[in-house]
Amino acid sequence: MNLEVIILAAGQGTRMRSPLPKVLHKVADKSLLEHVIIAARQLSPSNIHVVVGHGSQQVKAELAAHSLNWVDQQEQLGTGHAVLQALPAVQPGSTVLILYGDVPLIDSGSLKALVAATGNGNPALLTAKVAVPQGYGRVIRDVSGAVLGVVEDKDANPQERLVDEINTGVMAASTRDLAHYLPLVGNQNKQGEYYLPDILGLAVAEGRVVGAVLAGSEMDILGVNDRLQLSAVEREYQRRQAHNLLRQGVSVADPERLDIRGSLACGDNVSIDINVIFEGKVELGDGVSIGPNCVLRNVTVGAGAAIHAMSHLEDAIVGDHCSVGPFARLRVGTKLANGSRIGNFVETKKASIGAGSKVNHLSYIGDSSLGAEVNIGAGTITCNYDGVNKHQTILGDGVFVGSNSTLVAPLEVGDQGFVAAGSTITKPVATEQLAVGRGKQRNIKGWSRPNKTNNDKG
Ligand code: UD1
Ligand code: CA
Repeated sequence: MNLEVIILAAGQGTRMRSPLPKVLHKVADKSLLEHVIIAARQLSPSNIHVVVGHGSQQVKAELAAHSLNWVDQQEQLGTGHAVLQALPAVQPGSTVLILYGDVPLIDSGSLKALVAATGNGNPALLTAKVAVPQGYGRVIRDVSGAVLGVVEDKDANPQERLVDEINTGVMAASTRDLAHYLPLVGNQNKQGEYYLPDILGLAVAEGRVVGAVLAGSEMDILGVNDRLQLSAVEREYQRRQAHNLLRQGVSVADPERLDIRGSLACGDNVSIDINVIFEGKVELGDGVSIGPNCVLRNVTVGAGAAIHAMSHLEDAIVGDHCSVGPFARLRVGTKLANGSRIGNFVETKKASIGAGSKVNHLSYIGDSSLGAEVNIGAGTITCNYDGVNKHQTILGDGVFVGSNSTLVAPLEVGDQGFVAAGSTITKPVATEQLAVGRGKQRNIKGWSRPNKTNNDKG
């Protein structure tokens, strides 16, 4: 059996009140549509067709990395009309799974069950029991429980509105049935649209049986029509990721206060405090602890390292047993070798910090390479930028830089070199040399303090 997927994504999404096409709004790091595509791929369909209309150029550009067949629907005349536009591109004799581009948490398990339900050649739809069915199409069954069809909320009578089993919009049918029934669907309804679910009533009228599969949870089928629903879906998605981590043995201080916008791989015995945001690709080794309110974007953290509160790390590699923060900022190209320490109010960029080295307080280390066991005193600044170009600072093993020093790049300090506190260093310092680059202290004898004068009535 050849399986193909049609994803409907042509709608404008007026209620989002956004210039962005609805299906491009994001849940974590991926658009709504991309989540649906990923779920669809789990079923290994031979082709995925995406029906686009509003903002189609933008949608196609955003998803250019995916191999998809794009179908244009110029006017949004309804879900039935949308499927009809895609049908000519589907190989005859296939089973077609129809998904909505705005239902991002749809799970592949339900989809597989739905496709299996069409094994007898009959169409089937995915339904759900929901607490508040308002706005959804209702699934109408006869006394024996057989599905008769779907009635849209706007067209339903008061009795039909009481039904709490709704149409999720997800449906599977043969190309033969779609080609036969869709052209028969009219638009004589409250919205003047060609409704896809109307094919079910037509099939039943011809004596066919319609399958129905009940979805696992209400959240799986939640469609995003406004930002309230978008935030509900986002929270549910994040909750599921946090719960997965907990199941893997990661200690998550509060699963409601964790955001993963990308991929997070954790070793054993990792602990994550509250309000941490992970973005891009993050890997945490065994025994890593992440303090509260940290942001880690494309970061690898080695075993036993601790990232303390309020730290911000981006495109950085942290070695084993390092300590970072609190209040540290590691920017692009920071590499901390094993056992090094970055303390509070320290910013690093394109900096390689050698094993066991310490930059403990109030420093800027940019375009620099530090050897092992280097000690950088509080308030040290690498002056890497002359207003036009960036220059390198290279410090050998065991270098000691006294507090409040200014290292003007390009600069090299040899192994065991020593910079006196308060120095401005502009010339290279050789191995084991002491560099002092500051005004000499003068103590003036017999000096008297200024006296208060009378003319200052201020
Ligand atoms: C639809 C179903 C309803 C179901 C609900 C579940 C119909 C007629 N109704 O209603 O039974 O309970 O979903 O969420 O199918 N679209 C197009 N082209 C169009 C019209 C829609 O691509 O011409 C796309 C939309 O972008 C959206 C999806 O189809 O992704 C659903 O359309 P929408 O208008 O949101 O349908 P609902 O009124 O929510
Ligand atoms: Ca909808």
